[in-house]
Amino acid sequence: MKPFYDRHGITIYHGDARKIAPGLGLIDFIFTDPPFGHNNGNGDLIAASQKWRGKCKTKVWRTIKNDGPEANDLAQWLFAYAADSLHSSCCCCCCGGGGPDPQFARWSLWMDERMEFKQMVVWDKGKIGLGWHYRRSYETVLVAQKGKGKTRWFDRTNRVENIIRPGDYGIKKIIPQAHDHPTPKPVALAAHFIKLHTRKGDLVLDPFLGGGSSAVAAKQLGRRFIGIELEKRWCQLAVARLEATPVVKQA
Ligand SMILES: C[S@@+](CC[C@H](N)C(=O)[O-])C[C@H]1O[C@@H](n2cnc3c(N)ncnc32)[C@H](O)[C@@H]1O
Repeated sequence: MKPFYDRHGITIYHGDARKIAPGLGLIDFIFTDPPFGHNNGNGDLIAASQKWRGKCKTKVWRTIKNDGPEANDLAQWLFAYAADSLHSSCCCCCCGGGGPDPQFARWSLWMDERMEFKQMVVWDKGKIGLGWHYRRSYETVLVAQKGKGKTRWFDRTNRVENIIRPGDYGIKKIIPQAHDHPTPKPVALAAHFIKLHTRKGDLVLDPFLGGGSSAVAAKQLGRRFIGIELEKRWCQLAVARLEATPVVKQA
């Protein structure tokens, strides 16, 4: 399949990850942020908060694809694919925070069925959470490896915890603007995990690319990268952000 974008070791495909990823060969590391199945933009708290804060000028809720019950099928596909295609290291999968549908609970079990579940990292996003009772102030990143001891680990400080506190590693929560992807992840969050688990020149995959934060992180760090995204508008946003990111040598 012809890529949507292919420059400086960064490749983006526009299409369905389930069709494209199996043809890519072996991958060193996956960092991804699939739809959580929260119907974002369908009146849920994230969309509502964008409107209340006047941060989102659009009149209609902005939906993301496959963000209903089908998100669970995508997650199960992802973990099976990761088990087959990871050559080394692990898969780090963003998985939302608290609320009435704690998908991190079942997704970690599904990960463990296909690979070996390693950690749930909690990203404490700071004080302003969503909701009234038990305001939602955190998100999770699930980490699974292909087998015991298979995670590559390049941190030398011995200080990396399974909680990311506000301001750690320069990670700041994002309140998306109307021109942004509706659920952007900070570039610094993707960069944190890419630095922990890969070296320059390694191949990183994000099969649910969105607006391209993981692609920008990989380019800044000199990693090779493949991203896949179903919606053309988010591929275009990712390309614009990549073109504004300086090239770093990959070896
Ligand atoms: C939670 S968002 C990712 C946001 C991204 N982390 C960012 O920083 O912008 C999930 C993305 O997966 C995409 N998506 C949904 N189903 C897909 C599929 N089958 N193949 C590829 N992309 C898909 C959606 O269009 C959406 O942009």
